[in-house]
Amino acid sequence: MAQTFLSTPARPQTQRQNNWCLDQVIGPNHRIAPVYFQNALPLLTENFTRLLARDVFSEADAQFLYDWLLERGVSPTFRAMLERWLADELKHYQALRRCYHALAGVSYEEMDREAVRRAKQRDIEPIEDLLVDEFSILLLLAYDEIGSTYSYRRDLHEFYRHFGRAIAKVGQHLVRDEGQHFSNAAELILSLYPDRLKDVSATLTKFDIREKQLACTGSYHGTFFLDHAQEQARFPKDFNAITMQVIEARLGIASLPSQDKLKRLWQWKPEGYAFVPV
Ligand SMILES: [Fe+2]
Ligand SMILES: [Fe+2]
Repeated sequence: MAQTFLSTPARPQTQRQNNWCLDQVIGPNHRIAPVYFQNALPLLTENFTRLLARDVFSEADAQFLYDWLLERGVSPTFRAMLERWLADELKHYQALRRCYHALAGVSYEEMDREAVRRAKQRDIEPIEDLLVDEFSILLLLAYDEIGSTYSYRRDLHEFYRHFGRAIAKVGQHLVRDEGQHFSNAAELILSLYPDRLKDVSATLTKFDIREKQLACTGSYHGTFFLDHAQEQARFPKDFNAITMQVIEARLGIASLPSQDKLKRLWQWKPEGYAFVPV
C-alpha cells in the first residue's frame, strides 16, 4: 500500500484540471449541418472564421512558451503545473483546428503551413523584461488566463454556440479550462510566493501598460502572453482594470468587482454594432 503513496505525483491539492476527451467532443472530420449556416445572422460565419484564423495559432504558441520556460528554469511545482497546462493548451489547438476546418473548410495542411510561417515571426524580446522571476511569470500567466476566460466566454456566447452541439461544447471547455488555468496560477502564487503579494498591484499595472503599448504596434510576437489587446475593440475600455481586480480578489488582496461589471466583460457591444467586429 505504501507504494501507492510513493507513486502519487507531487502536486498541491489545490491544482485541478478539467478533463475532457477531444475525440469525444469533436472529430477531425466534423461537419457543421448546413442549417446552421443558413440560419446564421449576417456576418456571423465570416467573423467566427476571422476569430478562429487567429485563435487557432494563439493556442499553438503555448508550446513555445513551455519550451522557453523550461530552458529558463522553473521550480518543480511550477513544472508539474506546466505539464498539465501544456496538455490542455495543445488540446485547445487541436480542437480549434477542427472547428476552423469544419467552419471554413481550411485544410490541416494549410494550417500547418501557417503555423510554420507564424513560428518564424516569434519574438519574446517585447515582453522578456516582464519575465524577471517566477512570481512575475505566474502572475502574467494568471493575467493572460483570466483574460482568455472572459474572452472565450464572449466568443461562446457570440459564435461557438450558434454552430451545433460539438462546436458549442468546445467553447464551453475552453472557458472552463482557461478559468482553471487562472485559478491554478493564482494558487501557485499563494503557496510559493506569499511574500510577494505586496508586489501584485504594481506588477499588474506594468502588464496592462505593456499590453496597450503592444496593441498600438500591432505586431505579432507569438509568445502566448499579452495577445488580447489585438481585439480590444470587442471589449469595454475597463476590461483590464476589471480582470486585474479579479486577480487581486483571487489572491485575497481586493474585493471582487460587482456582478454587473463582470457581466459587461462578455456582454458589452460597441455603439452601432449588432455583432462585434473581430
Ligand atoms: Fe487555451
Ligand atoms: Fe490557458
